[in-house]
Amino acid sequence: MPAQFAVFGHPIAHSLSPRIHQAFARQFGIALEYRTIDAAPAEFVAAVRAFFAAGGVGANVTLPHKGAAFALADERSAAATRAGSANVLTRLPDGRLAAHNTDGDGLVRDLTERHRADLRGHDALMLGAGGAARGVAWSLLEAGVQTLTIVNRTPETADALADAIGEPARVHTRYWDDLATLGSYDLIINATSAGVLGGGLQLPPSLVGARALCYDLAYGNAAIGFLAWAKAAGARYAWDGLGMLVETAADAFALWHGRRPDTETVYQALRAAG
Ligand code: ATR
Repeated sequence: MPAQFAVFGHPIAHSLSPRIHQAFARQFGIALEYRTIDAAPAEFVAAVRAFFAAGGVGANVTLPHKGAAFALADERSAAATRAGSANVLTRLPDGRLAAHNTDGDGLVRDLTERHRADLRGHDALMLGAGGAARGVAWSLLEAGVQTLTIVNRTPETADALADAIGEPARVHTRYWDDLATLGSYDLIINATSAGVLGGGLQLPPSLVGARALCYDLAYGNAAIGFLAWAKAAGARYAWDGLGMLVETAADAFALWHGRRPDTETVYQALRAAG
């Protein structure tokens, strides 16, 4: 039987992860099984335990389970620990589970290597302060953004993230109601789940600087509203998170198989498909 992998989410039926991992595996002639497992929050822990008890080797974890995945693990990487969330679970040789978070590295690789963006010195605005935001905030700072302004509908969550980062000279929080008076930014990251949940964001065009790069961590339909706003507001670049998804998948693949796949061919194929 080929090695077993899965992605847990809710909903999860339309996940691209099985296609991405099968495409990576073909690059090395590896046979694997990779399926989607839809688990409601109350069933998540039992579903994960059952998957690994049945011989599962590794799992990706997405909305809304990243926090629960972090909590159930026996070992946690530094990136998962600071984010308090995990998108990868790996069975260790002794059967315990290790949690990783590859979201931040994946975003920065997509921005800097695929899109050739230079983040150094940029003033960045991050919308949202939930699990997705926590997964990427530190990585943006490590990649050299000069300042990071975090704005969240619930201000306490933004403050908690800024406190956790602990760099008051570079990291600021502002109120959502004040977005229209904040001025403009040259890097705007949408880390809210508004698009995924089907709602839209009402954002003022004044946020978008003349050379701004706007990036939605989500992809596909969930990113359409934000990217349309960014283009209408004059953003120089407006990208969705498809490239980030492929890069984070490559990190998981490397953890599990010890080999790093080529991501560009897989990214282009998914883009072309559409
Ligand atoms: P995720 O893992 O996708 O980050 P999450 O941890 O539930 O999911 O976080 C969702 C984020 O999107 C939060 O920052 C949330 O704001 P609140 O903390 O105020 O809930 C934000 N969000 C979701 N829907 C939103 C909306 N319609 N407008 C603004 N922010 C929204």
